[in-house]
Amino acid sequence: MHGKRFIQPNQVLDVRWNLGLLRRAKRVGPSLLLALCGSEKDYLVLRVLQVLAKQDDVRFKFANPEEHRAALFLDKARKRYLGFIIWTEGKGGAVLRQLFTVKEARRKGHAANVVEFWVENHANRFKGKFGIEEPNPSALRLHAKLGHLTIEGPDAIGLKCYFVRSM
Ligand SMILES: CC(C)(COP(=O)(O)OP(=O)(O)OC[C@H]1O[C@@H](n2cnc3c(N)ncnc32)[C@H](O)[C@@H]1OP(=O)(O)O)[C@@H](O)C(=O)NCCC(=O)NCCS
Repeated sequence: MHGKRFIQPNQVLDVRWNLGLLRRAKRVGPSLLLALCGSEKDYLVLRVLQVLAKQDDVRFKFANPEEHRAALFLDKARKRYLGFIIWTEGKGGAVLRQLFTVKEARRKGHAANVVEFWVENHANRFKGKFGIEEPNPSALRLHAKLGHLTIEGPDAIGLKCYFVRSM
C-alpha cells in the first residue's frame, strides 16, 4: 500500500516511480549512484528490495525508519536499483547492519564501493572503530579486501571495525 492505493512491487522497483530519489543520488563509483532513504516512498523501495534479500538470508529484518538509516544504490546507466546498505548510529558510533546486492549484479565491486563511501562519509564521522552486525563469510571477505579486518584461519580480527550481535 502507498497512500490509499495498492501498488505492485514491480512498479516500486521502477526508478521512475521515485524520481526524487534519483535526483538526490550521488555518484560513488564509475557507474554507481547512491541515495539516502528519507521519504516514505524511499523506504517502500527498500522494503521491496529487502523481500528479495530475504530469499538469500531469512535473517534480514525489515528496516524501521525510526531506528535505521539506509541508502539504495543504483546503476547509473541503466537506471535500476542494485542494492542497499542499512546502518544505525548511536553513542558508540555507526554499526553496519545489512548489505545487499541483487544477484545479477554481484562481484562487480558495487558493495565494496558503497561500503567505502559509507565508511568515509558516515562511519568516520564518529571516533574509533565502526561496528558490523554478524558478518557472513562473503561480508568478511569484502571487509578483509577493504582492510577493515583480517582473517586468520577460522578467526576474523577487526582492525577498523568490531563485531556486534543481531539487534
Ligand atoms: C555480500 C554481498 C553484499 C557482496 O556484494 P557484491 O556487490 O557482489 O560485492 P563486491 O563485488 O563489491 O565484492 C567485493 C569483494 O568482496 C568479496 N566477496 C563478495 N562476495 C563474495 C562471495 N560470494 N564469496 C567470497 N567473497 C566474496 C570478494 O573479496 C570481492 O572481491 P573480488 O570480487 O575481487 O574477489 C552480496 O553477495 C549479497 O548481497 N549477498 C547476499 C546478502 C549478504 O550476504 N549480505 C552480507 C551480510 S548482511
